Amino acid sequence: MDRRSFPRPVRPGQFRVAVLASGTGTNLQAILDKVHGRDGIEVVAVASNNREAIALERAAAAGIETDVFDRPSYPDREARDYAIAEWLAKRRVDLIVLAGYMELMSSAFVARFRNRIVNVHPALLPSFPGLAAVQQALDHGVKVTGVTVHFVDEGVDSGPIIVQRAVEVPPSREWQELEDRIHAVEHELLPEVVRLIAAGSVRVDGDNARVVTVAPDSSGR
Ligand code: GRF
Repeated sequence: MDRRSFPRPVRPGQFRVAVLASGTGTNLQAILDKVHGRDGIEVVAVASNNREAIALERAAAAGIETDVFDRPSYPDREARDYAIAEWLAKRRVDLIVLAGYMELMSSAFVARFRNRIVNVHPALLPSFPGLAAVQQALDHGVKVTGVTVHFVDEGVDSGPIIVQRAVEVPPSREWQELEDRIHAVEHELLPEVVRLIAAGSVRVDGDNARVVTVAPDSSGR
């Protein structure tokens, strides 16, 4: 069976990561704290659609280049995503992490960086895709929800799943308590996926491109 690692580093020895974020950026912070500057992984660029995003302040505090690509500056999504894509390509990024980036990417952007874009979603996909996933899960009455990290395709939270972890809905069924539990899991899972991809441990099945395998980690972590 043909198994291919994704993505392949553009240059050996250094794995260049970009993060797109719209808001608070606690997932960006987890990546900065846990994998940035280790094992050849460097977060080299952080962009946002929102110039007020706290994520931009976190990046600046870490000395990382930032830019803003906001809606009013572009005629449409295609033009904006082309500008983002050119900005990322100039910075020779190996992996693009959507960490609370509240925009859908155009199909041209997805095609240009196929299997190089990952997203973190606060539910066990394919349940509860799209906005307000935590509230969707509560409204549905589930007892268990969770976190998914997946490759991004042209659909809404529909790309191949890399890792998932379950989170129990607390007895209170309060949104904030569940959100806190989910965030804590995201902050473990997303940096871990960046590290595994950088290590070449994430592979897509050649026979079924929906099936992603994560190889045991040779580092023992
Ligand atoms: C996370 O819950 C993520 O799953 C969703 O947006 C949220 C971003 O949180 N896509 P933060 O900005 O990283 O704190």
